Amino acid sequence: MVVEFTIWVCLWMTASISKATAQSVAKPNCQDSCGNISIPYPFGIGENCYHDNWYEIFCNTSSSPPRPFLRRFSLEVEQINFEVNQTLTVRIPMQLREAWSGTGYDVMQGNSPNLTGSPFLFSSKDNVFLVGGCTGSALLLDSRNQILAGCATICPQQGSSMPSSENCYGVLCCQTIIPSSLVFYRTNFTTSSNSYENNSNIPNSAALIESNSVSKFIQNPTEQNFKPYPTVFQWTIMDLRTDSPGYENSTCETDERGGHNCRCKALFFKGNPYLPHGCQVVQDCEDCIQGCVVLGIDSYRCPIVDPTCQTSRAPSLGVGFIIAAVHILLILFGFCIYKMMKKRRENRIKAKFFKQNGGLLLKRQMSSNGGVVDKTRVFTSEELEKATDHYNKDRILGQGGQEVPLLVYEFIPNGTLFQHIHDPIEEFPLTWKKRLQISTDVAAALAYLHSASSIPIYHRDVKSSNILLDSRFRAKVSDFGTSRSITIDQTHLTA
Ligand SMILES: *[C@@H]1O[C@H](CO)[C@@H](O)[C@H](O)[C@H]1NC(C)=O
Ligand SMILES: *[C@@H]1O[C@H](CO)[C@@H](O)[C@H](O)[C@H]1NC(C)=O
Ligand SMILES: *[C@@H]1O[C@H](CO)[C@@H](O)[C@H](O)[C@H]1NC(C)=O
Ligand SMILES: *[C@@H]1O[C@H](CO)[C@@H](O)[C@H](O)[C@H]1NC(C)=O
Ligand SMILES: *[C@@H]1O[C@H](CO)[C@@H](O)[C@H](O)[C@H]1NC(C)=O
Ligand SMILES: *[C@@H]1O[C@H](CO)[C@@H](O)[C@H](O)[C@H]1NC(C)=O
Ligand SMILES: *[C@@H]1O[C@H](CO)[C@@H](O)[C@H](O)[C@H]1NC(C)=O
Repeated sequence: MVVEFTIWVCLWMTASISKATAQSVAKPNCQDSCGNISIPYPFGIGENCYHDNWYEIFCNTSSSPPRPFLRRFSLEVEQINFEVNQTLTVRIPMQLREAWSGTGYDVMQGNSPNLTGSPFLFSSKDNVFLVGGCTGSALLLDSRNQILAGCATICPQQGSSMPSSENCYGVLCCQTIIPSSLVFYRTNFTTSSNSYENNSNIPNSAALIESNSVSKFIQNPTEQNFKPYPTVFQWTIMDLRTDSPGYENSTCETDERGGHNCRCKALFFKGNPYLPHGCQVVQDCEDCIQGCVVLGIDSYRCPIVDPTCQTSRAPSLGVGFIIAAVHILLILFGFCIYKMMKKRRENRIKAKFFKQNGGLLLKRQMSSNGGVVDKTRVFTSEELEKATDHYNKDRILGQGGQEVPLLVYEFIPNGTLFQHIHDPIEEFPLTWKKRLQISTDVAAALAYLHSASSIPIYHRDVKSSNILLDSRFRAKVSDFGTSRSITIDQTHLTA
């Protein structure tokens, strides 16, 4: 049995599963990249390739390399993540304070793209509100002009060296974290000093930008108005039927907006969880059936459970399963045979005891008396099973040695004489009259056994605990475990 089990485990471990082919992250028959930027579904290039037109990507092939744009917002796309973070990096223009107007700088107000109602929002995790120049301060406002954030910059002291390019601590540059769930913002530049004139070569600008790009911004503070900076959107997908069978290898969470954020259900599944049949097991893990060990990025191996199993690789799934099925059948067959043998042995033992304990004699007497031996009734095992609720353990009063045939007694409700002598109960006092009655009953029973029955029987164990009292306190002699039948000419017996 143990050997059988080990073989079965080995087969199970080495049986291979169907091959997964390297999958495109885009919908079938759709372009999955623009230039060197990957465009995973729900984003897509061309009709029927995106989930809905919020995700439509326009690939401008006139430039070299081709550059993707988010069509609804005309924003250039830098990166789309779908595996760990559902993020979309786009370039948005910095919001700038306008030029010198003669009397002062015009305080300009710029609007961000309006993401209201879209599946996108500004990622508070990945962006900071960055203000360049030395305008005083800039405020981040929502669509109702509520102030959400603000930070102030000062100009470098006269004669002091310019701050190091990695610093964004308030001199020429400040940054602050932003609240979550932002879909729209404006910036207000406020005037707080008259130092602009002396630093007019430093443009004043503000935007939500990807925190990783802050250092690039500082390295080049005078050029940021020429080039939009990357900002990160979090995206989600609202109406995806992830309960349909194609998504069995994806797991999805619903966010507070009711959107789905999905991933492949285990690290060794790769592919696009938003596409039906998108997640497939990686090639290195194809032959493992008991999960896979992830060693690092794109590095996997099957768990080695038992090295002895490695040498006996089953050639394919089909053969593996056939061999396994044959083993299961063998095990089941063996089990059935074992059960049958056990049953037959039990029946043989029963028959033996029946013979040994006078069952045949009983049968003979029964047939000669028309099925009745004195006042004895024979119960079948089915009847007994029913009466005892399948030999329910709760109903066992006490146990002695049994097999077959068994003696079935009437139920004696008042216990033994022993109990009444040693532990008298008030409701049934043993009056002298009752005691005499019991003695007479016992004497009569013994007299019957010794002389009136066809074969004389010596009880050999007459004691108060073997004398039972029925509902009317009539005595019954019981426990014939040590009794003997004797031939007429025997006069006495020794124990
Ligand atoms: C795409 O190519 C450009 C220039 O060749 C490179 O700077 C950029 O990092 C590449 N982007 C990706 C996602 O590989
Ligand atoms: C595509 O890119 C080229 C070159 O950068 C530009 O001239 C053109 O206007 C772009 N087309 C569209 C539709 O944006
Ligand atoms: C996901 O976001 C976290 C936190 O912003 C970042 O550390 C991690 O590198 C991102 N992962 C990917 C695959 O972009
Ligand atoms: C943003 O878009 C929503 C929906 O299109 C609109 O109701 C709202 O007025 C817009 N907000 C601004 C500031 O343009
Ligand atoms: C933002 O700027 C506009 C235009 O100058 C001004 O009307 C508004 O009061 C400013 N909002 C705040 C909150 O400062
Ligand atoms: C700006 O420069 C002028 C002279 O170039 C100087 O007099 C003035 O104090 C400077 N203003 C500030 C705020 O530094
Ligand atoms: C789930 O992954 C298994 C293993 O790669 C593959 O056989 C099965 O087709 C996948 N199911 C779907 C719906 O993609």
